[in-house]
Amino acid sequence: MEHQATLLFTLATAFVMAFVLGYLASLVHIPPLVGYLLAGIAIGPFTPGFHADSQIAGQLAEIGVILLMFGVGLHFSTADLMAVKWVAVPGALVQIASATIMGIVMTHFWGWSFGAGLVLGLCLSVASTVVVLRGLEDINALDSANGRIAIAWTVVEDLAMVLTLVLLPALANLAGGSAPAQSGGGLALLLAITMGKIAIFLVIVRFLGPKVVPWLLQQAARTGSHELFTLSVLAISLGIAYGSAELFGVSFALGAFCAGVVLSNSELSHRAAEESLPLQHAFAVIFFVSVGMLFDPAALVQQPMALISVLLIIVVGKSIGAFAIVQAMGYPMSTGLTVSASLAQIGEFSFILAGLGISLGLFPERGRDLVLAGSIMSLALNPLVFKIVKPVLGTLRRVRLLTHSELTQDLRLARLQVALDANKKVTKGLPPDELINKWPVFADMDFVMRAELLTLVKPRSAVPGERLIRQGEAANEVFFISSGAVEVSVGRRKITLKAGDLFGEMALLSGAPRSADVTAIDYCQLLTLDRADFAGFLGKHPELKAKLDQIAAEREAMNRRDLELARATAAADSRKRPPVQA
Ligand code: CMP
Repeated sequence: MEHQATLLFTLATAFVMAFVLGYLASLVHIPPLVGYLLAGIAIGPFTPGFHADSQIAGQLAEIGVILLMFGVGLHFSTADLMAVKWVAVPGALVQIASATIMGIVMTHFWGWSFGAGLVLGLCLSVASTVVVLRGLEDINALDSANGRIAIAWTVVEDLAMVLTLVLLPALANLAGGSAPAQSGGGLALLLAITMGKIAIFLVIVRFLGPKVVPWLLQQAARTGSHELFTLSVLAISLGIAYGSAELFGVSFALGAFCAGVVLSNSELSHRAAEESLPLQHAFAVIFFVSVGMLFDPAALVQQPMALISVLLIIVVGKSIGAFAIVQAMGYPMSTGLTVSASLAQIGEFSFILAGLGISLGLFPERGRDLVLAGSIMSLALNPLVFKIVKPVLGTLRRVRLLTHSELTQDLRLARLQVALDANKKVTKGLPPDELINKWPVFADMDFVMRAELLTLVKPRSAVPGERLIRQGEAANEVFFISSGAVEVSVGRRKITLKAGDLFGEMALLSGAPRSADVTAIDYCQLLTLDRADFAGFLGKHPELKAKLDQIAAEREAMNRRDLELARATAAADSRKRPPVQA
């Protein structure tokens, strides 16, 4: 009874405080995430007032991590992972190594042992997946090629950390800790067992999972019971996460992610995603509250210089490192900045590593305070870091000429996006550079103009029935159809537009609200150009603007004629009708 009361108290205080502070934060235009962290600090053991149970909160937070990773896995096929592996795998490994070295060098100047430096470096090198997902979601980049690279990068980090957690006790002795001695042969055996377990896990995920898991979900769906279906989603995500952690030693997060990936090919994956979404949101909030609860605000004043250095490594050092790695691998600045912003924080894995370091006698207690304080501050700063990606990219682009190599990088990213979209079972299309040749309006553009346009457009896909434009809304972008078809509905008229057509230009040119509804009637591949880029590009190319003005004018004239005809018909109808008898 005592225990139940604690669980309930923790849940209730966490939700209430997170809601109140998250709401207040959003009122003053601060991301709600900061409010959740503050809620955690408020109900944590280091501040006066009531205290919730941080251990229970930590366990509830795990549920958040599991559901979130499961949700991401649902939108991520094995083919997606394969498509980005050449950048994500080497990128993550080099980045872990470089951040760890930064940590070791910094602590060397503080007089720490090599082992302590190694643990701190590793703690700083690994980002929180939950936060990466949140950040990407906020800027609508979860589905983009850049977002995919960032997610796969953190998955590789997760895998590397699983190995680290296993190897650290074995290495502790060599690195100056107090763990029981481990012979060289013992170490090799341990490594072999761990790798073997991970290999078996991956084989199951690849071959057995896709047969069993979707089948299970289908059976639940067949019963026609809504709650059984929701239950099956929860059972699959939590069950596989827990089972894989117990049996194969991989993290809950990774197990849940793989469960999602396995399900992503099933037709029921959309429904599964919908079912788990509300729970995902609620428990992800608990994750942030539980991080806040671990934080002792006194740590901010006890070692301010050390904290600033740690924060600089997390936010600046790691970002520059990741940016340089992505650039070195031939991807554009936008990818470098998205990955850097995603990784400029630390979270759950760092706490686990720091705890393990302390228990092995490798890592000092004050090191853990630094990791926690660094985590809280970098998490709070993260939404801001994401916000500055766009302006920084704009400035970088402005100060540097569009060199040939940058064009090649953009093309590489665009090709990757097309490959990822093709995985979503959307009709295969041409890469954007070839697509641009398809539009009659771009027929006379020279190479430089095309290249410039290519850097501005963003690929997007749509499924049949998806409403792309709603009549009367404000306009943010113009769409170019690469493949598939859409239907424009104005009044009673329905017009089908196909590959080579564009839509959404009228409202952008006139500043008026959208003139019609536009809905995808086939799997579509589109390129979009946002309002500011559209205006900027047309400003530089008046001949293109003239063409678009003409298209818009013809469409408007057609709509006006339709409207006048409809009015005339209605008036004639009302005249024909016999007068109502008194
Ligand atoms: P906009 O008004 O921004 O949003 C709706 C879009 O539908 C509009 O831009 C045009 O691109 C498209 N549209 C509207 N009327 C017609 C029409 N008569 N023929 C083809 N497309 C149209």
